[in-house]
Amino acid sequence: MKMIRMIIFILGLALFFSCNNQKEAYDAFYPGQEWKDDNGVHINAHGGGILFYNQTYFWYGQHMVEGRIGNTAQVGVHVYSSKDLYNWKDEGIALSVDSLDANSDIAMGCILERPKVIYNKKTKKFVMWFHLELKGQKYNAARSGVAVADNPTGPFVYVKSMRPNKGVWPINVQEFHKLPVSDTIKTNYCGGPDCLPGHVDSLNILGRDFEHGQMARDMNLFVDDDGKAYHLYSSEENSTLHIAELSDDYLTHSGRYARFFIHRYMEAPTILKTSKGKYYFIASDCTGWAPNAARSAVSDNIFDPWKELGNPSIGPDSLTTFNSQGTFNIPVQGKQDAFIFMADRWVPENPIDGRYIWLPIYFKGDKVRLQWKQKWDLSVFEEE
Ligand code: DGJ
Repeated sequence: MKMIRMIIFILGLALFFSCNNQKEAYDAFYPGQEWKDDNGVHINAHGGGILFYNQTYFWYGQHMVEGRIGNTAQVGVHVYSSKDLYNWKDEGIALSVDSLDANSDIAMGCILERPKVIYNKKTKKFVMWFHLELKGQKYNAARSGVAVADNPTGPFVYVKSMRPNKGVWPINVQEFHKLPVSDTIKTNYCGGPDCLPGHVDSLNILGRDFEHGQMARDMNLFVDDDGKAYHLYSSEENSTLHIAELSDDYLTHSGRYARFFIHRYMEAPTILKTSKGKYYFIASDCTGWAPNAARSAVSDNIFDPWKELGNPSIGPDSLTTFNSQGTFNIPVQGKQDAFIFMADRWVPENPIDGRYIWLPIYFKGDKVRLQWKQKWDLSVFEEE
C-alpha cells in the first residue's frame, strides 16, 4: 500500500513538473529579457547565426563564461535547436576550443567570434566560419576560421584558418592599389572611424595585405538562391567591407571578391535577399562593445555597388540600435519576405549575461525599418 502511494506521489510530481514546463513554453519574443532554454538556463549563443535544416532551426553562437575572461573563448561554439524560433533546446557544444594544445589556432583563450554555419548540399557537410584572433595577440591576427561537421549539432572539426584572398585583387581594385604602400599605417587593433592616420585608400591597406591575405574581423555568411555562398567581413583595419564568394565546397574563397563601403567602418555585417531579388545589408558602426546607430544599404546584385539607406532604426533608442548590435537576419520559414533582425546586447564585464534583441524587419518603400517591441510574435508578419 505504502509502495502504491509512493508511486502515485512520484507520478503526481512528474505530472506537476511537466505541466509547469508546458506553461514555461514561450509563444512570443521578449527582446532584452532573459531567454531560457529547455533546461531553464539563459541561452548562451552570442554573436550568433541561424541555420534552417530538416525543418529545424539551429542557433549557433559564442559560448560565454562569467567575468571579463568570457570575452575570450573558454569553451567554444554552442548550438541550440528549435521548431518555432521561440523555444530552444540545448544541443551542447558544436565546436570546442582546444584545451590541450596551446599552439592550436583555436587554443582555449583565443578570440572566436560571430560563428555562422551553412549547409553544403553537394558535399552534405555543415560548414562553420568564424572570426578568429590567435591567443595572446589581441585583435591583431584578424583571421577567418573554418570547421566542418556531418551533423548540424556537430561535433565540428576544426579545419584551418586564414587571411582571405591572399595574392588576389578584388574585382573592383583600382590602379593605385598596385602602387607602393605608405608605411604610416597603424598596425594595432583599429577600433573605429578615423583610427587610421589617413583615408584607407591613401594608406592602401589593401595593397599592404595583398601578399599575406586580407584582414577579416566581424563577419557573416550568406547562401544565395543559386547555392553560391558568400563571406562578408570587415577588412582593411575595419575600414572597409569585403564580400567574397566561397568555393563550391564552401571551405575556401573562390578568389572573386569586392570592396564596399570604403572607409565607412562597418562592423557586424548582416544580409538578406527578398523575393523580389533585392539584397539588403544591415551593419553597425565601429565602436567596440558600445552600441551605435546601425546602417542599411540595398543592391540589385551582391557585387554591384551598394546604395546606403541610412539608419534603419526608428523611435526611442534608434541611435543605439535599441542598445544592441546586429549579428544575423533570420529568414522565417514558410512566410514570404519575413525576416528577423537578430542582435546582441553585449555585457563585456560579464558576457554570459548578454541579452538577445530580436526584432521584425519591416520593408517601407525601398527601405528596411527596425522598431522596438517589448513583446512580439510571428503574427506580425501577417499584418499589412
Ligand atoms: C565589435 C564587434 O562587433 C564584436 O564582435 C567584438 O569584436 C567587439 N567589437 C570587440 O570590441
